[in-house]
Amino acid sequence: MKLGAPDARPGDSPQRIGVLISGRGSTLAAILAARQAGRLPAPVVLVIANVPEAPGLEHARAHGVPTAVVDHRASASRDEHDRALAAHLRGAGVSVVCLAGYLRLLSPAFIREFAGRILNIHPSLLPSFPGLHAQRQALERGVRVTGCTIHVVDEGLDSGPILLQAAVPVEAGDDEERLAARILAAEHQLYPEALRLFCAGRFEIAGGVARVVPESVRR
Ligand code: GRF
Repeated sequence: MKLGAPDARPGDSPQRIGVLISGRGSTLAAILAARQAGRLPAPVVLVIANVPEAPGLEHARAHGVPTAVVDHRASASRDEHDRALAAHLRGAGVSVVCLAGYLRLLSPAFIREFAGRILNIHPSLLPSFPGLHAQRQALERGVRVTGCTIHVVDEGLDSGPILLQAAVPVEAGDDEERLAARILAAEHQLYPEALRLFCAGRFEIAGGVARVVPESVRR
């Protein structure tokens, strides 16, 4: 099968991005805006939602990006659902999978198939505050600085190699909602930048630690 890339551009890397969402898709919108603005050297070729009515699907449609729904309620198990997900991604020739507000855990088999090629964003400075309600955890612990992390997904909980981080100060009077809104603004800057570097082959990962290699020494 010949795989189309509707918005392939000169200077693109060979990567093809697939994005998984569950809801509003503000992170997806930031990635698509970066692509439109010429800040992302690879096309988004498929957006998949596990919720049929996920509003974020509209962002994909507005940018002419193909969409699919793989409703988790239609599958008997996580493995079965993730096999369907993987089939869609494979069919679209996706080489990099971005979790963007995707609210389901992935099966080990899925993570193995796309090993080293699944990126996630987490709203804390990992390894602090993994798991759910990261912003609430930060407020409850009384940290002065929190933020967000883009990392490679491995089989642990928010434990894969850290690619990029952005710090967000906690302000007096912050509640979970206010803090989450400022972290989200940082997330929207950070994810496209991490993807840009990732697609350009600028991360070198060894022993669970990633470093950004200067463009001039890129192999
Ligand atoms: C953010 O809080 C992000 O950290 C988490 O999902 C939220 C963004 O959702 N992974 P969306 O992209 O607006 O759907």
